[in-house]
Amino acid sequence: MLPTAELLEVATDAAALTVDLLLERIGSDLSVVEKSTSTDLVTQVDREAERLIVDRITASRPDDGIIAEEGTNVEGSSGVTWIIDPIDGTTNFVYGHPGFGVSIAAEFHGEPVVGVVGDPLNGETFTASRGGGAYRNGKPIAVSATTDPNRMLVATGFGYEPERRRAQGELVARLLADIGDIRRMGSAAVDLCSVACGRVDAYFESGLNRWDFAAGAIIAAEAGAVVSDLHGGEPSRAFVFAASPAVAPALRDLLRHLDADQI
Ligand code: IPD
Ligand code: CA
Repeated sequence: MLPTAELLEVATDAAALTVDLLLERIGSDLSVVEKSTSTDLVTQVDREAERLIVDRITASRPDDGIIAEEGTNVEGSSGVTWIIDPIDGTTNFVYGHPGFGVSIAAEFHGEPVVGVVGDPLNGETFTASRGGGAYRNGKPIAVSATTDPNRMLVATGFGYEPERRRAQGELVARLLADIGDIRRMGSAAVDLCSVACGRVDAYFESGLNRWDFAAGAIIAAEAGAVVSDLHGGEPSRAFVFAASPAVAPALRDLLRHLDADQI
């Protein structure tokens, strides 16, 4: 049997340890290095946080697989795989700007089963398990009640490759006249939690890695969001879409019309 409660407890515990580490280290002298491009940053705290999470998981669940942004890649034998981003929104972390978080998801034979996102500067931890609903600091959350597509508040994000960023910016410029407004806050994981708690009506982005969206996607889905790619399939690197059901069809149509997943 799938030990959902245990997975949730391990993820919540690992996220809490990481939140403490990030709060302790934010604003300290960080050695920042560039990763894939000059805008893609990583710090030693990203690596320390990843080690902390991996050690916590391995202590309880030594047979699980682990895939994490800063390089951990462990093949497991239990059927459970953890998908981890130790700091999603590293640029915000480096600047001390709110809107970064730790993102921890567990999949069972490829199916998302548990997601936890900790947002240190807002003092919020979002949790969800499949079929069990979504919570913020232990209290149930739900998507927004907005029904007018012209008023939609839509979060998005930009990748690191210059060509993709330019195209993503152009897409936003074309979308803007047909929606309420755009927010670019800097963490896909936190953005998906913002959909989950109704702080925005929707979120979309192309080119994400699994660890950016795995935890946030199950949290948004369990809060009642439509979570998919641009055509109703599973969210993927090509496209992640999450929206409250009342505005999802209108936004998906607008984005399809603009070939948003070709970016
Ligand atoms: C990034 C953030 C950002 C999104 C980028 C991601 P990172 O992750 O989620 O919001 O727009 O596409 O790569 O690099 O801060 O872990
Ligand atoms: Ca990330």
